[in-house]
Amino acid sequence: MKIQEIKAKDLRPKKFIEEKVREIREIVGDGIAISALSGGVDSSVVTALAHKALGKKLKTYFIDNGIMREGEPKKVASLFKELGIPVTIVDARAAFFNAMKGITDPELKREAITQTFYKKVFRDLVLKSKATVLLQGTILTDVEETAAGIKRQHNVFAQIGIDPKKAFGYKISEPLVQLRKDGVRKVGMALGLQKSLFDRIPFPGPALAARVIGDVTPMKIALVRKATVIVEEELKKAKAFQYMAILHEDRVTGMRAGKRDFGLQIEIRCWDSIDARKATPTRLPWQTLERIAGKILSGVPGVVSVTYNVATKPPSTIEAI
Ligand code: XMP
Repeated sequence: MKIQEIKAKDLRPKKFIEEKVREIREIVGDGIAISALSGGVDSSVVTALAHKALGKKLKTYFIDNGIMREGEPKKVASLFKELGIPVTIVDARAAFFNAMKGITDPELKREAITQTFYKKVFRDLVLKSKATVLLQGTILTDVEETAAGIKRQHNVFAQIGIDPKKAFGYKISEPLVQLRKDGVRKVGMALGLQKSLFDRIPFPGPALAARVIGDVTPMKIALVRKATVIVEEELKKAKAFQYMAILHEDRVTGMRAGKRDFGLQIEIRCWDSIDARKATPTRLPWQTLERIAGKILSGVPGVVSVTYNVATKPPSTIEAI
C-alpha cells in the first residue's frame, strides 16, 4: 500500500494530532499499548501523541540496550517525567551485546538489533504488560530506504512484507509514517514537547552500533560514546542537521611518548540536510575541527587519528553502518 506523504509545508499539526489521537484510540480499543521510547525525535513525538490519546492505558519503556549515548536513559526519563509521562527503564544491555557478538556485516548487525528488540525485549514486555499494540515512530524516510534496499531500518516491517502480528505476536502502529523529520518536529512542538526533545539531532535506532565499524563490543561502544560527547558538545551551535563520531575498525600507526602506537581512528561527520534524503558536509571552521581533534586525541584512549568526512549523501549515507 502506497503511503500518502504529508509534506511539512502542508502539515496542519493540530488537525494531524486530532486525527492521530482518534486513530490510536480506535486501534487500541479497550486494551493497553506500549511505546518504545528511545529519546530520539520520532519516538518522543509518538510517545507524547499516544499519551494524549491513551493516558494511563499507555505504558512507556526506555530500553537500555547499552549502545545509547552518555547518560541518555536517565536524561530522557526525567524529561518525560516533567511532562507527566512515566517511563520505565528496562536494562537489556546483556541481550543486545550477546546478539551482536562477533558480527561485522552492517546489515547483519542491524538485523541482530532488530530481532533483539522485537522478538525478545518487546515481546517480553508485551506479554508482561498484556499489551496488544506497540507504538513506534517510523517515518517515511525509514520506509523508503528500507524498501529501496539501501539500509534495513530497525523499525520497518509491514512495508517490506513482514506481518508483525505473525512474526512477533503483536500489532505495530506507526502514526508518523506519512511524515519526514521536519514534519515530525512541527508535531512535537504543537504537542508541547520540550525543545530539547523535538529539536534534537536525529539519532538512529541501532544507536552507537551504527557508528562502530566491525564487531561491536562494550569497550568499543565506550570509546565511541566518549568521542560522541565531545563532538556533540562542540557542534551543538553549528546549526547542522546531524553530527557524529565514528570508530573505525582499521588501525593506523601513530606515536605517543616517543613510541610507536598502532592506534584507533575516529571519523567526524557533520551534515547539512533538510530531511536526510540528501546531505552535504557542513563547512565547519578549521579551528572547530582542530579543537575537536585535540579533545578526542587527549580524551579518548588509544586514538591516534581524527578525520573529517567531506563526501556528500549520496553516494555516502549519514550513518556509517
Ligand atoms: P542514513 O544513514 O540512511 O540515515 O543516511 C538517514 C537518517 O536516518 C537515521 N537512521 C535511522 N533511524 N532507524 C532509525 O530510526 C535506523 O535504523 C536508522 N538508520 C539511520 C540517520 O541517523 C539519519 O538521520
